[in-house]
Amino acid sequence: MSEHPDAGPSREALSVHFSSRTDLWATPLSFYAKLDAEFGFTLDVCAIADNAKCARYYTPAEDALRQRWDGTCWMNPPYGRQIGLWIEKAYVSAQQGATVVCLVPARTDTRWWHVWVMRADEIRLVRGRLKFGDGRNSAPFPSAVVVFRPPIEGPPGQGLTRVVALSPAGA
Ligand SMILES: C[S@@+](CC[C@H](N)C(=O)[O-])C[C@H]1O[C@@H](n2cnc3c(N)ncnc32)[C@H](O)[C@@H]1O
Repeated sequence: MSEHPDAGPSREALSVHFSSRTDLWATPLSFYAKLDAEFGFTLDVCAIADNAKCARYYTPAEDALRQRWDGTCWMNPPYGRQIGLWIEKAYVSAQQGATVVCLVPARTDTRWWHVWVMRADEIRLVRGRLKFGDGRNSAPFPSAVVVFRPPIEGPPGQGLTRVVALSPAGA
Protein backbone atom coordinates (compact mmCIF):
# COMPACT_ATOMS: atom_id res chain seq x y z
CA MET A 1 0.00 0.00 0.00
CA SER A 2 1.46 3.37 -0.98
CA GLU A 3 1.49 6.22 1.50
CA HIS A 4 -0.04 9.61 0.81
CA PRO A 5 2.76 12.06 -0.02
CA ASP A 6 1.69 14.35 2.81
CA ALA A 7 1.54 11.55 5.33
CA GLY A 8 5.08 12.22 6.53
CA PRO A 9 7.78 9.58 6.92
CA SER A 10 6.66 6.02 6.24
CA ARG A 11 6.47 3.46 9.02
CA GLU A 12 9.62 1.91 7.59
CA ALA A 13 11.44 5.23 7.60
CA LEU A 14 10.32 6.02 11.13
CA SER A 15 11.54 2.65 12.28
CA VAL A 16 15.03 3.81 11.35
CA HIS A 17 14.86 6.29 14.18
CA PHE A 18 13.04 4.34 16.83
CA SER A 19 14.34 0.81 16.36
CA SER A 20 17.43 -0.48 18.11
CA ARG A 21 18.41 -1.81 14.66
CA THR A 22 19.59 1.73 13.97
CA ASP A 23 22.40 1.05 16.41
CA LEU A 24 24.07 -0.81 13.57
CA TRP A 25 23.34 1.59 10.76
CA ALA A 26 26.55 2.63 9.16
CA THR A 27 27.61 6.10 8.13
CA PRO A 28 27.32 6.62 4.35
CA LEU A 29 30.81 5.97 3.00
CA SER A 30 31.10 9.06 0.79
CA PHE A 31 29.99 11.26 3.67
CA TYR A 32 32.55 9.70 5.99
CA ALA A 33 35.32 9.86 3.35
CA LYS A 34 35.11 13.64 3.08
CA LEU A 35 35.39 14.09 6.82
CA ASP A 36 38.20 11.54 7.02
CA ALA A 37 40.10 13.49 4.35
CA GLU A 38 39.78 16.57 6.52
CA PHE A 39 40.43 15.08 9.97
CA GLY A 40 42.36 11.82 9.38
CA PHE A 41 40.57 9.61 11.90
CA THR A 42 42.62 7.15 13.96
CA LEU A 43 39.88 5.58 16.12
CA ASP A 44 36.25 4.64 15.44
CA VAL A 45 34.92 4.71 18.98
CA CYS A 46 31.83 2.58 18.35
CA ALA A 47 31.62 -0.11 15.73
CA ILE A 48 31.65 -3.77 14.89
CA ALA A 49 33.95 -5.38 12.34
CA ASP A 50 31.33 -5.02 9.59
CA ASN A 51 30.90 -1.26 9.86
CA ALA A 52 34.16 0.00 11.42
CA LYS A 53 35.57 3.04 9.70
CA CYS A 54 39.08 2.80 11.13
CA ALA A 55 41.49 -0.08 11.63
CA ARG A 56 41.29 0.69 15.35
CA TYR A 57 37.80 0.61 16.88
CA TYR A 58 35.91 -0.20 20.05
CA THR A 59 33.12 -2.78 20.04
CA PRO A 60 30.10 -3.24 22.34
CA ALA A 61 31.99 -6.06 24.06
CA GLU A 62 34.77 -3.63 25.00
CA ASP A 63 32.20 -0.91 25.80
CA ALA A 64 33.63 2.31 24.44
CA LEU A 65 32.05 4.30 27.24
CA ARG A 66 34.51 2.59 29.61
CA GLN A 67 37.57 3.07 27.38
CA ARG A 68 39.95 5.96 26.87
CA TRP A 69 39.42 7.85 23.60
CA ASP A 70 42.57 9.37 22.13
CA GLY A 71 43.89 10.73 18.85
CA THR A 72 41.33 11.78 16.25
CA CYS A 73 38.08 9.95 16.86
CA TRP A 74 35.05 9.24 14.70
CA MET A 75 31.77 8.75 16.55
CA ASN A 76 28.44 7.76 15.02
CA PRO A 77 26.86 6.50 18.24
CA PRO A 78 23.80 4.34 18.87
CA TYR A 79 20.86 6.76 18.61
CA GLY A 80 18.96 5.32 21.56
CA ARG A 81 18.32 6.70 25.02
CA GLN A 82 21.99 6.63 25.92
CA ILE A 83 23.07 9.10 23.26
CA GLY A 84 23.66 11.75 25.91
CA LEU A 85 26.32 9.54 27.53
CA TRP A 86 28.13 9.29 24.18
CA ILE A 87 28.14 13.04 23.61
CA GLU A 88 29.27 13.64 27.16
CA LYS A 89 32.13 11.17 26.65
CA ALA A 90 33.08 12.99 23.43
CA TYR A 91 33.24 16.30 25.28
CA VAL A 92 35.21 14.87 28.21
CA SER A 93 37.64 13.07 25.88
CA ALA A 94 38.32 16.32 24.03
CA GLN A 95 39.03 18.02 27.34
CA GLN A 96 41.63 15.27 27.85
CA GLY A 97 43.30 15.88 24.49
CA ALA A 98 41.35 13.98 21.82
CA THR A 99 39.59 15.45 18.82
CA VAL A 100 36.14 13.85 18.50
CA VAL A 101 33.93 14.29 15.45
CA CYS A 102 30.36 13.10 16.01
CA LEU A 103 27.51 12.36 13.64
CA VAL A 104 24.26 12.79 15.55
CA PRO A 105 20.61 13.55 14.88
CA ALA A 106 20.10 17.32 14.97
CA ARG A 107 17.80 17.19 17.97
CA THR A 108 18.21 20.77 19.08
CA ASP A 109 15.40 20.54 21.65
CA THR A 110 16.98 17.79 23.73
CA ARG A 111 18.79 18.04 27.01
CA TRP A 112 21.92 16.34 25.62
CA TRP A 113 22.08 18.88 22.82
CA HIS A 114 21.87 21.82 25.18
CA VAL A 115 24.20 20.42 27.84
CA TRP A 116 26.92 18.90 25.62
CA VAL A 117 26.60 19.83 21.95
CA MET A 118 26.45 23.53 22.78
CA ARG A 119 29.97 23.15 24.23
CA ALA A 120 31.35 21.93 20.90
CA ASP A 121 33.84 23.92 18.86
CA GLU A 122 31.85 23.47 15.72
CA ILE A 123 28.37 22.31 14.67
CA ARG A 124 27.83 21.52 11.01
CA LEU A 125 24.15 21.28 10.10
CA VAL A 126 23.71 18.77 7.29
CA ARG A 127 21.57 19.95 4.41
CA GLY A 128 19.13 17.24 3.28
CA ARG A 129 18.79 13.80 4.86
CA LEU A 130 21.43 11.06 4.95
CA LYS A 131 20.84 7.50 3.80
CA PHE A 132 22.31 5.32 6.49
CA GLY A 133 23.68 1.85 6.00
CA ASP A 134 22.14 0.03 3.09
CA GLY A 135 18.82 1.79 3.61
CA ARG A 136 16.90 2.91 0.55
CA ASN A 137 15.10 5.64 2.45
CA SER A 138 16.53 8.86 3.70
CA ALA A 139 16.58 9.17 7.47
CA PRO A 140 13.42 10.72 8.92
CA PHE A 141 15.52 13.15 10.96
CA PRO A 142 18.12 15.83 10.16
CA SER A 143 21.77 15.20 11.03
CA ALA A 144 24.61 17.30 12.40
CA VAL A 145 28.35 16.84 12.58
CA VAL A 146 29.63 18.05 15.93
CA VAL A 147 33.34 18.69 16.46
CA PHE A 148 34.93 18.67 19.90
CA ARG A 149 38.57 19.78 19.96
CA PRO A 150 41.07 19.87 22.81
CA PRO A 151 41.11 23.13 24.77
CA ILE A 152 43.42 25.83 23.44
CA GLU A 153 45.10 28.70 25.23
CA GLY A 154 43.87 31.99 23.87
CA PRO A 155 42.03 35.23 24.38
CA PRO A 156 38.41 35.23 25.57
CA GLY A 157 35.99 34.26 22.85
CA GLN A 158 38.04 31.34 21.53
CA GLY A 159 35.58 28.93 23.11
CA LEU A 160 32.56 30.01 21.09
CA THR A 161 30.76 27.38 19.04
CA ARG A 162 30.84 27.92 15.29
CA VAL A 163 27.71 26.82 13.41
CA VAL A 164 27.99 26.21 9.67
CA ALA A 165 26.03 24.55 6.86
CA LEU A 166 27.29 21.26 5.43
CA SER A 167 26.11 20.13 1.99
CA PRO A 168 26.77 16.51 1.18
CA ALA A 169 26.90 15.73 -2.54
CA GLY A 170 23.46 15.81 -4.06
CA ALA A 171 21.73 17.64 -1.23
C1 LIG B 1 25.39 3.81 14.21
S1 LIG B 1 26.57 2.48 14.27
C2 LIG B 1 28.01 3.23 13.60
C3 LIG B 1 28.96 2.25 13.00
C4 LIG B 1 30.22 2.82 12.38
N1 LIG B 1 31.08 3.37 13.41
C5 LIG B 1 29.91 3.86 11.34
O1 LIG B 1 30.18 5.04 11.55
O2 LIG B 1 29.41 3.48 10.28
C6 LIG B 1 26.92 2.42 16.03
C7 LIG B 1 27.82 1.27 16.41
O3 LIG B 1 28.09 1.34 17.82
C8 LIG B 1 28.24 0.04 18.29
N2 LIG B 1 28.08 0.08 19.75
C9 LIG B 1 26.93 0.06 20.48
N3 LIG B 1 27.21 0.13 21.80
C10 LIG B 1 28.56 0.18 21.90
C11 LIG B 1 29.48 0.26 22.99
N4 LIG B 1 29.03 0.28 24.27
N5 LIG B 1 30.81 0.30 22.75
C12 LIG B 1 31.26 0.27 21.46
N6 LIG B 1 30.45 0.20 20.38
C13 LIG B 1 29.12 0.16 20.60
C14 LIG B 1 27.17 -0.75 17.55
O4 LIG B 1 27.46 -2.12 17.50
C15 LIG B 1 27.25 -0.10 16.16
O5 LIG B 1 28.11 -0.84 15.33
